[in-house]
Amino acid sequence: MTFNINDLPAVPGASRRVLPERKAGGVSLSTYSGPQVHSNPSAPSASSAQSAQFPDSAVRLSEVVSALSYALDITEGQPQGHAIRTCLIGMRLAEVVRLTDQERSALFYALLLKDLGCSSNAARLCSLFSADDLTLKRAHKLTDWTSGLASAGYALSHVAPHRNPLARAWQVLQLGTREKGSGREMTATRCERGADIARMLGLEPATQHAIRALDEHWDGSGMPLGLKGNDISLLGRIAGLAQTVEVFAHAFGPEEAYEVARRRRARWFDPELVMALQSFRDDSRFWSTLGSVDAIDQVGDLEPADRVILADEERLDGVAEAFARVVDAKSPYTARHSEGVANIAVGIARAMGLSKDDQTTLRRAGLLHDIGKLGVSNLILDKPGKLSPMEMDEMRKHTRYTAEILQRVTPFRAFAGIAAAHHERLDGRGYHVGLEAGDLCQLSRILAVADICEALSAERPYRPAMPEEEVLDIMGEMVGTGICQVVYEGLLASMHGGVVGRRETGDGRRETGENEEREQGTGNGERGVPRKETAA
Ligand SMILES: [Fe+2]
Ligand SMILES: [Fe+2]
Repeated sequence: MTFNINDLPAVPGASRRVLPERKAGGVSLSTYSGPQVHSNPSAPSASSAQSAQFPDSAVRLSEVVSALSYALDITEGQPQGHAIRTCLIGMRLAEVVRLTDQERSALFYALLLKDLGCSSNAARLCSLFSADDLTLKRAHKLTDWTSGLASAGYALSHVAPHRNPLARAWQVLQLGTREKGSGREMTATRCERGADIARMLGLEPATQHAIRALDEHWDGSGMPLGLKGNDISLLGRIAGLAQTVEVFAHAFGPEEAYEVARRRRARWFDPELVMALQSFRDDSRFWSTLGSVDAIDQVGDLEPADRVILADEERLDGVAEAFARVVDAKSPYTARHSEGVANIAVGIARAMGLSKDDQTTLRRAGLLHDIGKLGVSNLILDKPGKLSPMEMDEMRKHTRYTAEILQRVTPFRAFAGIAAAHHERLDGRGYHVGLEAGDLCQLSRILAVADICEALSAERPYRPAMPEEEVLDIMGEMVGTGICQVVYEGLLASMHGGVVGRRETGDGRRETGENEEREQGTGNGERGVPRKETAA
């Protein structure tokens, strides 16, 4: 999978027709506020939405999440920009049906972040089908899975592609009998997980509810609850329609997207929303520019101006934590990996006496260092045995994806290189660039040590978790070739409550000083930024 920063859609500015105000289940769409869902009182509230008056230097949450939505796109096996294009279509529908600013604000974030829970069923899907989760997910969005025939065709086409026909047929049979409830269960997990992460981000209950309702259908044939008609959140109905229209429009063109919407009208989709979709069918500019140029800036303009949410430092921490959850949910073997790496890295930084700013950078870089793994198949991530050279090549792409994703996010761009360098080694034998000691700044070295320490301490598909003593022994062998001695001593100090430079390491190594730091390239005045650019 490759990223192309110039391959994003623009927001069209063509004139728009507006349908007369309509009613949904006796409730005026313009006053509908969605079902009430209790939010986490400790989470920052979207009610703190800022007015349009904010400093030029302020970062909008919309800018951050629209850039990060690319990580969700790759997890879903979707072409880059899927969430943004879905947002453009959904917000156009919102305009046609005259949602209020409050509703449009909630919908805007639901459209961008609808797939927050997408990683939580990847491992299970991969295991059930013995196939690549990214391919499965992409094909699933193009399948009318409420049709028995289409579902069977999907299973027959995608199950265990590497096995012989008899084995594949047997597995399909098993899926149809023993695993009958798995689809609903996986959808429930995905919806709940997505809504939970939206709550962590402090987004409106209406946004959370829309994410929960994404796969519900107008006729009750959807999942996970089988809700019907107006019992489904209006914003969820809009998001569900917008997502399907985007997928078909991108794959086959707008005409096919309209045909699918027509065929699924009153089955999958609210018939009145399908009618609203018709109102911009002939807007050729809208459809022709939907996939043409970078729309990250423009998509932010669709957020109601008087409800713009700013991403202050606290909210940026929340965004990093939320996306770390998405990353860690991808594989059962990394359930708390990102958080663990962030904690270890900050512990080392404290023991080494690094500044608060460096600690903040390390925490965010630690939380997001493996975000590129969202683009790697669970067939590889969860493989119990040794990876083949080809699989290893795929696995090694994840750091490049990390760099490419984080470089899109303005407030995270400064540490994209640090996060992406966590598999580099002092001797130049790491990946994905093959940086050497002189290229690796102190923060990169800390993150690499934290990553190894957490990974060795946790269970993996190919080995059990290791005890602390064994972890430190293995890492001790890597000092000087793989990892930095100063940082390794920082790790020891952080584990035993010490501070580097004020204690003996207890393992016969000298205390470190300026000479060693210079020799290892940390005294170059470029702390925080690797000397060699790590992004592809
Ligand atoms: Fe990694
Ligand atoms: Fe990692």
